[in-house]
Amino acid sequence: MYRQKMIVGNWKMNKTTADALVLIRDIAATVGKRTDVDVVVCPPFTALEGASRVLEGTAVKLGAQNMHPELNGAFTGEVSAPMLRELFVTHVILGHSERRAYFGETDAFVNQKVLTAIKNQLRPILCVGETLAEREAGATLRVVQTQVERGLEGVGRETAGGIVVAYEPVWAIGTGKVATAAQAQEVHAFIRSLLVKLLGEAVAQRARILYGGSMKPANAAELLGQGDIDGGLIGGASLEARSFCDLIQAAGAAK
Ligand code: 13P
Repeated sequence: MYRQKMIVGNWKMNKTTADALVLIRDIAATVGKRTDVDVVVCPPFTALEGASRVLEGTAVKLGAQNMHPELNGAFTGEVSAPMLRELFVTHVILGHSERRAYFGETDAFVNQKVLTAIKNQLRPILCVGETLAEREAGATLRVVQTQVERGLEGVGRETAGGIVVAYEPVWAIGTGKVATAAQAQEVHAFIRSLLVKLLGEAVAQRARILYGGSMKPANAAELLGQGDIDGGLIGGASLEARSFCDLIQAAGAAK
């Protein structure tokens, strides 16, 4: 089954709006017309509006890094799905390990966000992944299974079409330690088998499963060449146009 590759830049808490627009313009100038790879950039909330204007008329999509499950109300500091939709945001990263570790997000809370995103026509990018201690204890697949099953609870087959799952081993994020292609492929294939059980064969075969964790132009081709690795969720290497666009190039070349 052919699945178009997807490269998502997660800028995390980096770039003022001014700096963000410089980077977005560079990215749009280099890959803005590419339709053979799905490209999504996820700047901080403060840069979404400006980024949205720059990306108008290009093929590059806009994503948010987080979202609250409620649509409005007394949730100081939070941002909702309708607010994102109004800025032409199409994707939203949910359950990133940094949100789980530093902001106490549970699988149940992430699940509420996933359901709200889908209801509001935002495509969730559900992040899962084990810590080093969990990997060393042989618990990788069990941890990932719980995160995928709980994160997708209540998602109906008919609405799950655009679902994206990102496998990000916590020990590989920002550390320079990348999972080997075989390690990543094993978990990706496992995630796809879970999606088959949860959402059926057709949805599972169409779903993109991204790898994240120290992915760079130098290691991208091998990872992207694996059967169940459909793209990348990129942190550090997405902060510079050159490396981000090189990753898109690698995704376009991967079979
Ligand atoms: P790095 O690419 O910096 O390791 O970050 C990965 C990540 O967390 C993307 O969401």
